[in-house]
Amino acid sequence: MLHTIDKILEEARQFKAESKDEIEQFRIKYLGKKGTLSELFRNFKELPVEEKKEVGQKINQLKQFISEKIESLLSGISEEYRGDLHQDLTLPGPPVSLGARHPISVVRNEIISIFGRLGYTISEGPEIEDDWHVFSSLNFPPEHPARDMQDTFFIEKDPDILLRTHTSSVQVRVMEKESLPIRTISPGRVFRNEAISARAHCIFHQVEGLYIDENVSFADLKQTLLYFAREIFGKQVEIRLRPSYFPFTEPSAEMDISCQICGGKGCNVCKYTGWLEILGCGMVDPNVLEFNGIDSKKYTGFAFGMGIERVAMLKYQVKDLRLYFENDIRFLEQFKAAY
Ligand code: DAH
Repeated sequence: MLHTIDKILEEARQFKAESKDEIEQFRIKYLGKKGTLSELFRNFKELPVEEKKEVGQKINQLKQFISEKIESLLSGISEEYRGDLHQDLTLPGPPVSLGARHPISVVRNEIISIFGRLGYTISEGPEIEDDWHVFSSLNFPPEHPARDMQDTFFIEKDPDILLRTHTSSVQVRVMEKESLPIRTISPGRVFRNEAISARAHCIFHQVEGLYIDENVSFADLKQTLLYFAREIFGKQVEIRLRPSYFPFTEPSAEMDISCQICGGKGCNVCKYTGWLEILGCGMVDPNVLEFNGIDSKKYTGFAFGMGIERVAMLKYQVKDLRLYFENDIRFLEQFKAAY
């Protein structure tokens, strides 16, 4: 009887099917009520006790093999032939969904392109910086609050190694290695020890601008920023400069743009002022020029710095900063048309 079982197993192994019908025939032949296996089980009952163990095991193995073979034949058929054995090669394929550039990249590229038209180069610097490039050479006094642990992520203390809190550090790197005149923008990631909310994040992006030459004036700064604002937000936009303070510029200012939602009339977005703050700027402090080996009697310069998330929020009216970092496809898809 063992021999018979081996023969049946071999026969089943050889079997190939090309349709569901053939598989069904195969199933009936072996597993049906009057099939081969029923007959084997019937004969099994007649066997002497000593033989029962071995033969029983073999029959069970055969049954399992056949059941598994049927399963795999069926799944092969359904995948390959989709039930009807014919594949329509003219059917349209599944839709391919195209990705979109992230809004931060869209806005960064646009800023680069606008300043590129004014002759600005692009420069980059390291995200892990030392105290000199982020603070000291930018004229931050030793007790300035930005140097506090609450604002800055320190990696090492004494000497201080930290994550840059602004891209102004790249100004210093450029002044160190490039010859004058300098006209450059520096886009990059910055880090601050802030609690994450709709308006603040511990990682965000800035673009820094720097122009140093003979006779660079505040009027040049204002005209450059007006050109930028009109290119990025549209010709209707107005700007205003408010006096402010930064250690590395003197005089310093903050720039507002007229609110694009109410057109300057006042609404809840601009808190009924008609203006929205967009960047910081000023004339490079002579100390900063001298720290970096530039003759402040001969050369003057201006600098400005803006947050890319902030510009993107104003441009696309995004109300929550966290949306930029969550990568929710429903949010990102809305920028498909933007690039
Ligand atoms: N570094 C400043 C910040 O992170 C932004 C800034 C303000 C940059 C004035 C400048 C500037 O170059 O002149 O808040």
